[in-house]
Amino acid sequence: MKIYKSISEFLHRRDNLAELTFVPTMGNLHQGHISLIDLAKQYENEIIASIFINKLQFNNKNDYEKYPKSLESDIELLEKNGCDHLLIPDESILDSIEVIKASSKSKKLCGKNRPGHFDGVLTILNKFFKIINPKISIFGKKDYQQFLLVKEFVLNNHLNIKIIGGDTIREYSGLALSSRNNLLSETEKQIASSIYKVLTDIKSHKNLLTKELLDNKKKYLTELGFEVDYLTVCDASTLDESLSINKNGLLVAVAAKLGEVRLIDNILLTKL
Ligand code: PAF
Repeated sequence: MKIYKSISEFLHRRDNLAELTFVPTMGNLHQGHISLIDLAKQYENEIIASIFINKLQFNNKNDYEKYPKSLESDIELLEKNGCDHLLIPDESILDSIEVIKASSKSKKLCGKNRPGHFDGVLTILNKFFKIINPKISIFGKKDYQQFLLVKEFVLNNHLNIKIIGGDTIREYSGLALSSRNNLLSETEKQIASSIYKVLTDIKSHKNLLTKELLDNKKKYLTELGFEVDYLTVCDASTLDESLSINKNGLLVAVAAKLGEVRLIDNILLTKL
């Protein structure tokens, strides 16, 4: 795997590289990321990953500073799993960066309590897309709203990049893999797995969806010690709240804090 520690080093080589499939990350890699690399292998292109903890997308300085880092094992994992290129830019990637405003969908779900978060995500991705010029870019669907906003951004700006979503990878307990899980104790991890149980329970009641059901589930999570940001059933393309089970693409999505750690997850209730 070829590692580029600066943008200029990468750009210097870019013209001699094959078509690329891009997997952006903030490091602290786990099997969820590796599943995206595996998905990338289904396409003919060479694979490039990036590692950059983007401070523009953090609302909370503490959260940014505490974000888990494990560069050496990240490099090992990518190498072992067949990634061809790795770009690790320094903070100068943010110099005179063009600021992108995410669409109104960014104000829903995670956007309600994280103002500017998706602007920060799209701002850095737009820069990466310009530098890397990939044919394909792959995102995990655990961050469903991010996946949707990136797809919309690429479409609206006529960027010639195919955006692909990778399925959420879970621990045996159901807990969705996330770098933030490393900030949880073993006991907290067990509690955190209730998030998935709540989602699957809502799915098993999908023909009886009511606001009361969602309120009860929120209450249950609160009693377990979560601070629930949202637990919402919505249309997977507009993110508008909906309890209409006759619709295709109905999604149940949740964000909740356990201690200082914010966890998100979602599952589809009806097929897209
Ligand atoms: O999902 C992430 O890890 C980040 O939001 C991303 C896409 C790497 C942009 O910083």
